[in-house]
Amino acid sequence: MMSRSATRMARSMLGHVGPRYFSTTVVRGGAATEAARIGAAATIFRGHPRKVDVQPWMMRFSSVVGNRNASTLALGEKHQDQDDEMAESGGSSGGAAAGGGGGNDNNKEIMSYWGVEPAKITREDGSEWRWNCFRPWETYKADVSIDLDKHHVPTTFLDKMAYWTVKALRFPTDVFFQRRYGCRAMMLETVAAVPGMVGGMLLHCKSLRRFEHSGGWIKALLEEAENERMHLMTFMEVSQPRWYERALVFTVQGVFFNAYFLTYLISPKMAHRVVGYLEEEAIHSYTEFLKELDKGNIENVPAPAIAIDYWRLPPNSTLRDVVVVVRADEAHHRDVNHFASDIHYQGRELNEAPAPIGYH
Ligand SMILES: [Fe+2]
Ligand SMILES: [Fe+2]
Repeated sequence: MMSRSATRMARSMLGHVGPRYFSTTVVRGGAATEAARIGAAATIFRGHPRKVDVQPWMMRFSSVVGNRNASTLALGEKHQDQDDEMAESGGSSGGAAAGGGGGNDNNKEIMSYWGVEPAKITREDGSEWRWNCFRPWETYKADVSIDLDKHHVPTTFLDKMAYWTVKALRFPTDVFFQRRYGCRAMMLETVAAVPGMVGGMLLHCKSLRRFEHSGGWIKALLEEAENERMHLMTFMEVSQPRWYERALVFTVQGVFFNAYFLTYLISPKMAHRVVGYLEEEAIHSYTEFLKELDKGNIENVPAPAIAIDYWRLPPNSTLRDVVVVVRADEAHHRDVNHFASDIHYQGRELNEAPAPIGYH
């Protein structure tokens, strides 16, 4: 048991080291031992709010959240006088440090922060919702009645440039994938999920800079990005990327993200038109995919569970059903992006026309 003055001196020393370094040393564990040796551990580790044992794995985890610990500890400073009293009145400082329990419930000093408890979500039938990556209220039934053949005719120089850029990109894609449509779909979705995120991010920043609403376009574009990413999560279940395909995605993403970012900064009109034409190509690719499935060249395997839940498909759905709804999604993305480009063509800002949020 240390004296009160020793406790204050130890606390003063730790205060001079600063919360950041203090946190790091706690995480490494060595200083925790040191702190215990000088008697300061009594005020550091005692009283976890949830009375969770401080296990070695938690020490490792806390290396990730070290700075958060630091700020928490700094905020908990005001409780230390109360702790000192407890330590002097025979509180089990060493035992609390080792076991992590035994403190009072009002103590805000914690060793690690195990996040926020996820909400318990159930389906309509009461069974547990199994996906963390999306929630029941984000699922939908795709509108497969959408016109798949609509094509924006390029007339201006900018539109023709967008159109031929996309056509030029299709050539190497055809050569690389040929008729491996499952793999092709998976790889192209890694690219397709980028424009919505870039556009949404740039509109988000613009909204902040200009103190103005986005007209729903931030949400619409981020929805598109998320929807494309769900396409990828689905096709991952039926086609696993090989090492050189992963390397290709890495490279293509680096180039495409930056190219699209710059294009959007310079001309959002052109950027949205490019995506509109990319989506037209995606519709074509999925139509070819369906033809191969119908011919029996690609096995029509059962639909992945994630797809059944995301698009609210019947339980006995197949890969063909999934391709049909994904193709419908692409047609909706086509409309959204050509629409966005046309708004710019009219010399207006996107926020002057309401965005088609939830357009599936
Ligand atoms: Fe897609
Ligand atoms: Fe798309």
